[in-house]
Amino acid sequence: MKENFYTEATEAPQSEFDISLRPPELTDFFGQSKVKERISLMIEAAQKREDVLAHILLSGPPGLGKTTLAHIIAGATGSQLHSTSGPQIEKAGDLAGILTNLKRGDVLFIDEIHRLHPAIEEYLYPAMEDYRLDIIIDQGPNARTIELSLPRFTLVGATTRAGMLTAPLRSRFTMTNRLDYYNAEDLTKIVTRSSGLLGVSIEEGGALEIASRSRGTPRVANSLLRWVRDFAQVRADGTITEKVADDALKMIDIDDDGLDEMDKRILESMIYKFDGGPVGLSSLAVAVGEDASTIEEVYEPYLVMQGMITRTPRGRVAMRRSYEKLGISAPKNVSDSTPGLGLD
Ligand SMILES: Nc1ncnc2c1ncn2[C@@H]1O[C@H](COP(=O)(O)OP(=O)(O)OP(=O)(O)O)[C@@H](O)[C@H]1O
Ligand SMILES: [Mg+2]
Repeated sequence: MKENFYTEATEAPQSEFDISLRPPELTDFFGQSKVKERISLMIEAAQKREDVLAHILLSGPPGLGKTTLAHIIAGATGSQLHSTSGPQIEKAGDLAGILTNLKRGDVLFIDEIHRLHPAIEEYLYPAMEDYRLDIIIDQGPNARTIELSLPRFTLVGATTRAGMLTAPLRSRFTMTNRLDYYNAEDLTKIVTRSSGLLGVSIEEGGALEIASRSRGTPRVANSLLRWVRDFAQVRADGTITEKVADDALKMIDIDDDGLDEMDKRILESMIYKFDGGPVGLSSLAVAVGEDASTIEEVYEPYLVMQGMITRTPRGRVAMRRSYEKLGISAPKNVSDSTPGLGLD
């Protein structure tokens, strides 16, 4: 996925800013109450049985806390976290190297697990199920398999595209958790907590203003907070009030719904160039000059959730709300939409 304001390369080390704001424990991880409850129950049960935690899959749009949860899970079980990502494991040998390095109870975090090579996935199945690795050595008539037994470990997989995971892989996870966009109340708590860590003075109205314009995403909330803090220092007395937050966000073209320039360009293209759709993803990507996968994983889910656009088998269609957003009246045949989750 192309990097932009909302995403970061998962292979690259996270910025210091991000790491310091990352909640270390479930108690500081706001929102996602169902997911938290299930995970803490699993951890408690495993600890009572003195067993190793079962495999957990985390899915959802970028920046909602999948990596953070993986760290929290490892911390809560007192085990070591080993991080890698789907595209990083190129050969079976890479996976064997990682797996044979694990100790009992360790957490192996595989980010972007939907991008694992199919051949590598095959090796992962027995490792997940029976803690066994079958390595094929040599080729042709001399080829033979050696079986290695592995320590019991916990696999935590993360994906922005749960729908792209193969059924056999998905079924090997004991629990699948989908993270949803955060509501403004939870994001306000996150912004307030981050302000405390950064030593920024913020009023409740300021925190709420940032929260409600953060596309339901903690990572965006933290980035906007950083920008608003700079703005408050230079253009105001350093305190983030509602007015300061509003002025700061206007300056970077983030509107009241948290939509930015690219969101608007997507809506404009759909309506003006493609008559409201249906339009295919690749045509849309060319029209707005953005990477198709970034549109699909970053922009579109939020626009769908907001009820601005909808996905149909024939392509993306603009809903009445997107016409309203652009301040134009919608043609009669355009349907209203009930906001969905926008997730696959
Ligand atoms: N529930 C939360 N409470 C507080 N802060 C959070 C929460 N969720 C995420 N964050 C903050 O948002 C940042 C982004 O979260 P994280 O890196 O875990 O997202 P992600 O789901 O792994 O995203 P990606 O799909 O891009 O890898 C974290 O560094 C953390 O500071
Ligand atoms: Mg991540």
